[in-house]
Amino acid sequence: MGEIVCSGIRPTGNLHLGNYFGALRNFVKMQDEHQCFFFIADYHSLTTHPTPGDLYGNARQILVQYLAAGLDPDKATIYFQSDLPETAELYLFLNMNAYLGELERVTSFKDKVRQQPNNVNAGLLTYPTLMAADIIIHKATKVPVGKDQEQHLEMTRTFANRFNNMYNCEVFPLPQAYNFGHELVKIPGLDGSGKMGKSEGEMNAIFLNDEPGAIKKKIMKAKTDLGPTQMNQTKPVEIENLFTLMKVVSTPDTVAHFDDLYNRCEIRYGDMKKQLVEDMVAFTAPFRERIAELSANEDYLRRVMDQGKEKAHESARKTLDEVRHVIGYRR
Ligand code: TYM
Repeated sequence: MGEIVCSGIRPTGNLHLGNYFGALRNFVKMQDEHQCFFFIADYHSLTTHPTPGDLYGNARQILVQYLAAGLDPDKATIYFQSDLPETAELYLFLNMNAYLGELERVTSFKDKVRQQPNNVNAGLLTYPTLMAADIIIHKATKVPVGKDQEQHLEMTRTFANRFNNMYNCEVFPLPQAYNFGHELVKIPGLDGSGKMGKSEGEMNAIFLNDEPGAIKKKIMKAKTDLGPTQMNQTKPVEIENLFTLMKVVSTPDTVAHFDDLYNRCEIRYGDMKKQLVEDMVAFTAPFRERIAELSANEDYLRRVMDQGKEKAHESARKTLDEVRHVIGYRR
């Protein structure tokens, strides 16, 4: 058991291809070799004020999708963030040494202020301290995440390091963002701009449990241009995005075939999209099946939730005992 690994995903709906290639796929690969803690970030989701029904339903759905992707509760500790209130205690401690200026400068906070100007709550501002608490509560060293989380990981190191310095101790290691074997990943969306994500709109993302009809509709509608006019010309962003999606679900030969057609100005985007639909449907089919099976198995899901809660609690309690002692709570 080499590293201590910890990561989580917010339950905002179903998982999409970005979540899978940026995070979940790495979770599954890492569980065999490392001590892993994978949670469902259902405290973080409160920043957008979900209804109680949605909060539970979405969190349960992420658990199902974790398991459908191959996470094994006997190898990794899989739990709900809200089942570990020690996280909230550590969050409180970290907030005492997190400064307004540095929190206001975080890109994801600035984005949220733009997206939801009527709900700029303190939870949004302190999102990075809660995320740091999630990670360092298990003394994690590696954090499998997509590229968009890089800045949050940098903040996590800042807070961990600050705590160590402040109390002249070495309670927390400094964790690194991690992707199995490569650089951090950014999966693009289908609208020709930015990354794949839930808040970018339903049509922009392919979800692991999308029906073939939905996949076809989304891909066939994806933005393209009028086609290349010069041999070997640089691809515009929306075309590059289609190729990036093809690289993750199609064979290298298929990608090379369409790349070649593009370079010779002979590409027909309709053909490329048809191929992408076929490969995407084949890639997601096993997830869809397992998601349907697992969703119906309430007893098993309950057992997994209880088992994860207990294991996560054991790890967190040890850290919190140490932290409380160092801070000066010594009764
Ligand atoms: P969230 O829920 O937005 O996304 C979950 C994971 O999916 C990755 N991801 C992507 N990767 C590549 N391309 C994309 N288009 C794409 N979209 C999403 C994200 O990088 C992330 O790894 N703050 C986190 C949740 C969190 C967390 C943590 C993560 C809370 N506490 C502690 C790690 C450790 C978030 O909102 O991710």
